[in-house]
Amino acid sequence: MVERERILARTGGRPLNRIVYTDQQIAERVREIGRHITDFYPEGADLLLVGLLKGSFIFVGDLVREIARPLQVDFLVTASYGSETVSSGEVRLLYDPGAEVEDRHVVLVEDIVDSGTTINRVIPLFEKRRPASLEICTLLHKHLAPSLVREPRWVGFDAPDEFLIGYGLDHSENYRNLPFIASLRQATD
Ligand code: PRP
Repeated sequence: MVERERILARTGGRPLNRIVYTDQQIAERVREIGRHITDFYPEGADLLLVGLLKGSFIFVGDLVREIARPLQVDFLVTASYGSETVSSGEVRLLYDPGAEVEDRHVVLVEDIVDSGTTINRVIPLFEKRRPASLEICTLLHKHLAPSLVREPRWVGFDAPDEFLIGYGLDHSENYRNLPFIASLRQATD
């Protein structure tokens, strides 16, 4: 399938502004991050990756297969955006992971750090549970947050300030299945 058809088949014909990161660029970067995480932890570390749903579901799926260590996976469900393209500044916790956190090496896995609201809300919740260590891995980082309670240790890409979709990221719950990351052409363009 040629590129244009491949895209339009998945967007229902809606054109995109541009592809920001291709499937290949993402795969290569995820492999690199997987290697860095593998090298970071001492042998025998009790490693727990906690993905923030829904946006991180594809990233987590790909990332854990690139980490050459025993690990466990859980998820956290938060919601902040509603159907708008700007952050509402509020984060609701909809599902708390069942996994034990105390004395474990925890990596929170985000698809994107945008306003930083989600990280700033979730990190203190985990700190209270006394993990052995707590790190953040995010595929995309916009570097817009005025202050983050903790900077991500692993960042896939320093992302442009555009509305990004695909590879798990949505607009009104659509486009999560794009295999690449694109910016969305807005109705006013
Ligand atoms: C998005 C995204 C991040 C968060 C980042 O999630 O997946 O989790 O917002 O934005 P912030 O830094 O401004 O908090 P969203 O709440 O839209 O839910 P989703 O993961 O289900 O798409």
